[in-house]
Amino acid sequence: MPAQALYLKYRPRTFGEVEGQEHITRTLKNAIASGRVAHAYLFTGPRGTGKTSTARILAKAVNCMAESSEKPCNECEICRAINEERMLDLIEIDAASNTSVDDVRDLRDKVDFHPGQARYKVYIIDRDRRCVEHKRGRRARLAGQGGLSSRTSKVQGIHHRRSPYAFECCIQCIAQDA
Ligand SMILES: Nc1ncnc2c1ncn2[C@@H]1O[C@H](COP(=O)(O)OP(=O)(O)O)[C@@H](O)[C@H]1O
Ligand SMILES: [Mg+2]
Ligand SMILES: [Zn+2]
Repeated sequence: MPAQALYLKYRPRTFGEVEGQEHITRTLKNAIASGRVAHAYLFTGPRGTGKTSTARILAKAVNCMAESSEKPCNECEICRAINEERMLDLIEIDAASNTSVDDVRDLRDKVDFHPGQARYKVYIIDRDRRCVEHKRGRRARLAGQGGLSSRTSKVQGIHHRRSPYAFECCIQCIAQDA
């Protein structure tokens, strides 16, 4: 078996395995169980507290094909594809290095394509904080206002490393656009 980075090996795979964030995981589990999943989520907090892991668990849960209410099952084709990093409908974007207007236009062009394998296309936009800090990012944010979300992209996990002031950016460029 090929060597695997430790953070991938020990990445939590279910909501129950995410330590110390029960208030978040409980809310997300309830949303899944009741079928009331919002189209965008904003996760904030210091590095290494489980934002990316939680976003990936949520991506699995919304697309999980298991009959049971315990989602994600980590056994169906969709869950396995996400765990093995081969799910094309889960798109992770590093917003710190994709800050140009063209980057956002490219994203907007693709967002309307229907998912290939999964029920919902999921975008995880990481380090969005940067798009407030850079002027380039500010322009990209404006370009993004036209349509980052769509009927096909059902969930967007949005990540920041630190501060709540990035809320403004995210709410404007993603959530507001529902
Ligand atoms: N709340 C948590 N519960 C269990 N493991 C965690 C948690 N937060 C972080 N980890 C561990 O740290 C690694 C990095 O976490 P990650 O989800 O990428 O953090 P973030 O996106 O908040 O920086 C994970 O692979 C996991 O092994
Ligand atoms: Mg992260
Ligand atoms: Zn599953």
